[in-house]
Formats: sequence, structure tokens, C-alpha cells
Amino acid sequence: MQAFGARHGILTQAWSPIGGITFYRDSEHTSTLRDPVIGEIARAHGKSPAQVMLRWHVQQGRSAIPKSTKPARIAENFDVFDFELTDEQLAAIDGLDTGRRGGPDPADVTLATFGRDIPEA
Ligand SMILES: NC(=O)c1ccc[n+]([C@@H]2O[C@H](COP(=O)([O-])OP(=O)(O)OC[C@H]3O[C@@H](n4cnc5c(N)ncnc54)[C@H](OP(=O)(O)O)[C@@H]3O)[C@@H](O)[C@H]2O)c1
Repeated sequence: MQAFGARHGILTQAWSPIGGITFYRDSEHTSTLRDPVIGEIARAHGKSPAQVMLRWHVQQGRSAIPKSTKPARIAENFDVFDFELTDEQLAAIDGLDTGRRGGPDPADVTLATFGRDIPEA
């Protein structure tokens, strides 16, 4: 995916970059912020799980725009440029992929399934 993007000048953006979708929607997911692998990496760097996830995106060349309503968390989420994940840590986070989507498959997002009339348009 990353290589395809680089070849075609496409910047991939993370959807739900710190895994919000895993904890604010009632589902079978467990919160990514409580994942033991991410927690251990966070402790090793003296950072929070959210910061580790954001750093993982940044180091792999993705755009990541997390959302928070809390000023302290917004500051925390910007503070990810003073540490570096090792190749092993990046691979460990990659390895957490279950293949299960938190949202719809892009192929299912069509006008028929998600279309909405905009009367003002
Ligand atoms: N998920 C979607 O359906 C969707 C669709 C289209 C676009 N997007 C865009 O993607 C971006 C973010 O997506 P998202 O809101 O789904 O997920 P997210 O940024 O991965 O997670 C947001 C959640 O994480 C919490 N949070 C933020 N920083 C934290 C921190 N440092 N430590 C612990 N918790 C933290 C927030 O709570 P608090 O606010 O209480 O801090 C919120 O519940 C937004 O710009 C959104 O508009 C998302």
C-alpha cells in the first residue's frame, strides 16, 4: 500500500488513527490503547500508547489526524517527534492487525449504500 502510494504520489491518511473506533463504538473490539504490546512499547519510550500509535503512522509515512476534545491530549498527540520506534517495534505493531475492519469496506461505500440527498445543493 505504502509503495503503491509512493509510486503514484498518494499520501495515505489513517482512519481513526489511535483506534478511537475500537473504544467509542459498542463492538467486540478491545481498545487499542489498552493493548499490551503497544503498552510495553510505550513504557520503553516513556510515552503514552496514543503517542506510540501516532509515531507508528508517522514513521511509516501516513498522515494521522487524531481527534481529542481535551487540550492536554491534543498537546500529547503532537508530542511524537522526540523518539523513534525500532524496526522490531514497528513490526510488532504491524503484527497486531487482525484483518477485521472497524468500519465499512471501501468497496461497500457507494451512493446506493451511503448516498444522501442534499436539498440545498
Ligand atoms: N471514525 C470515523 O468514522 C471517521 C470518519 C471520517 C473521518 N474521521 C476523522 O478521523 C479523525 C479521528 O478519528 P476518530 O475520532 O474516529 O479516532 P481517533 O482520533 O483515533 O480517536 C479519538 C478518540 O480518542 C480519544 N483520545 C484522543 N487523544 C487521546 C489520547 N492522547 N489518549 C487517550 N485517548 C485519546 C478521544 O477522546 P477525547 O476527545 O475525550 O480525548 C476520542 O475518543 C477525525 O479527524 C475524524 O473526523 C473519522
